[in-house]
Amino acid sequence: QANGLALTPPMGWNTWNKFACDINEDVIRKAADAMVSSGMAGAGYKYVVIDDCWHGARDAHGDMQPDPVRFPSGLKALGDYIHSKGLKFGIYSDAGKMTCGKRPGSLGHEYQDAAQYAAWGVDYLKYDWCYTGTLDAKAAYTLMSDALRASGRDIVFSMCEWGTAKPWLWAQAVGNLWRSTGDIYDGWQGKKGYSLGVMDILDLEADLYPYAGPGHWNDPDMLEVGNGGMTDTEYRAHFSLWALLAAPLIAGNDLTSMSPATKAILTNAEVIAVDQDALGAQGRRVAKQGDVEVWARPLASGDRAVVLLNRGTAPARITVNWADLGYPAKLSAKVRDLWLAKDQGTSKGGYTAEVAPHGVVMVTVRPAV
Ligand code: DGJ
Repeated sequence: QANGLALTPPMGWNTWNKFACDINEDVIRKAADAMVSSGMAGAGYKYVVIDDCWHGARDAHGDMQPDPVRFPSGLKALGDYIHSKGLKFGIYSDAGKMTCGKRPGSLGHEYQDAAQYAAWGVDYLKYDWCYTGTLDAKAAYTLMSDALRASGRDIVFSMCEWGTAKPWLWAQAVGNLWRSTGDIYDGWQGKKGYSLGVMDILDLEADLYPYAGPGHWNDPDMLEVGNGGMTDTEYRAHFSLWALLAAPLIAGNDLTSMSPATKAILTNAEVIAVDQDALGAQGRRVAKQGDVEVWARPLASGDRAVVLLNRGTAPARITVNWADLGYPAKLSAKVRDLWLAKDQGTSKGGYTAEVAPHGVVMVTVRPAV
């Protein structure tokens, strides 16, 4: 993206997955506090993003105002509070007449809204796609992208049209991240209306790896880790796979009441380092046999990050062959298990691990000298 932002996938927190429309300034302030006190900020999470349902009405000048009951102090004050914690401030709008939650959209007010966001100190805009009628996605997102740039403020642009117009083919210069699928829900597999389980989203991402890179990312939607619908094993798989995909890591749980396991998953420094690797290469599926899969991505160091995924309901032994990683078949390489935080020695040709049902083993592989 020409704005030079998001050279690694954005990390932060968003209201939607946990709170949906049930938001107010207190919820956001407490999330910002918890982001710092829980260690999430220290682990790299930065953006505090207010999703749908903050909008009130436009004033006599057409300037958008927040819902006065939910946000009585106004969004400038809320942004200042978030900034005072060393964090960044994200907001949400919609390219159409209304947001999905039926609040006023930005259609016809793009430059005015972008200037307003800049005045409030906004650092990140998620731009949704409800009530857009016959609008062309590329034109509509380009309009807001230009408006954000004209605002004079550095604002990460998160496009949310669910992959309908194949944004990976044209959005590299328009936005910093684009949703590539419908909404996630807090479950392992299967569709629920328009929403998708983690495995369903993963399958839709499999062919998109060529389109991601520094400043422009595929977005398989926000994290459900800690929301209660999956086991911790499944959440570790979800988080590992999102890191392998170089996905934005936008937590979607209640940061004020995290279990130790949830916190340990979301703040695992070695897994986050894979997500944030400077090369910015999105991982891909390199092997599949029934319910077992191997996913891998190259890292800036020349090492590989590998996820051994067991979709099945019984434990499985899964092997990654070095040849599938683009290494010589007989190479000797050092393996480190990122969830055990343990070196697993040097092995020739490949590595095999026992993987729990609906689980992963995530390793890095480094050619031995
Ligand atoms: C649809 C988006 O895909 C979701 O992430 C969320 O922003 C909702 N709209 C809000 O209405």
